[in-house]
Amino acid sequence: MVAGEKIKVWDIAVRLFHWSLVVLFTVGYLSGEDESMLHIYSGYGVIALLVFRILWGFVGTKYARFSDFAYGPKAAIEYAKSMLSGNPIHYIGHNPLGGWMVFALLLSLAATTWSGLEAYGAEGHGPLAGKESTLIKSAYAHGDERENGNNKENGNGEHEEDEFWKETHEALSNLTLLLVFLHIAGVAVASFLHRENLARSMVTGYKKGE
Ligand code: HEM
Ligand code: HEM
Repeated sequence: MVAGEKIKVWDIAVRLFHWSLVVLFTVGYLSGEDESMLHIYSGYGVIALLVFRILWGFVGTKYARFSDFAYGPKAAIEYAKSMLSGNPIHYIGHNPLGGWMVFALLLSLAATTWSGLEAYGAEGHGPLAGKESTLIKSAYAHGDERENGNNKENGNGEHEEDEFWKETHEALSNLTLLLVFLHIAGVAVASFLHRENLARSMVTGYKKGE
């Protein structure tokens, strides 16, 4: 390859996935407090994007595949060291730390939306309504007879399962937000060290070659 040549890295599906996720995550996070239908639909939208991205991680184009950026700790440490030296190793697709962050973000988003579905289900809505949660079932396995399934009143007029899932959902959405901030900081640092605008690459699809 000729030095300085541009190479197509992010296919149109990855780019549409990314920027739709940015919009839906932002809407979802900001609409959580009032629990409107906007919140529920943006959450479903995030679920659809995750399902797509997981499939695309197996059958998508070269740099979109999980196998392209599933690096072990050795590669990650080496990359981190090269970053500290100010002359980071150049990767065409995700670098090892970026790859780890992608997996962390996808996992955290999956956990956030799952707990959201459980919280919504505990209120009697959505696909998990009326289904006993296996997690709660094991947590309360040693308890006595339950009235009202797992969702019994705790004496303050609140329902245990409701509260459990709401608090879990809130904590997980904040964890995801924290990862997003680290992700954006990582993109900024890598863009600076590699002298390449990586956010723009996520728009155009092109990155520098070797
Ligand atoms: C990435 C996607 C999502 C994000 C970032 C998110 C974020 C949030 C946030 C920040 C809250 C407010 C928590 C609080 O302060 O009490 C919330 C509440 C809630 N979310 Fe989500 N959520 C997402 C997906 C979902 C999904 C898919 C569902 C279900 C279909 C859902 C159902 C709910 C419900 C029922 C509440 C109300 C809990 C309460 O009353 O405190 N969320 N969400
Ligand atoms: C405006 C803020 C954001 C910018 C500038 C940005 C930028 C980027 C860039 C440049 C990449 C490619 C990284 C690389 O070159 O290796 C990327 C990947 C990714 N970002 Fe963001 N991002 C932003 C917000 C978010 C948010 C809010 C989320 C999730 C809620 C997110 C999730 C992801 C994921 C999952 C990938 C992996 C893409 C893939 O391979 O499918 N990003 N982002």
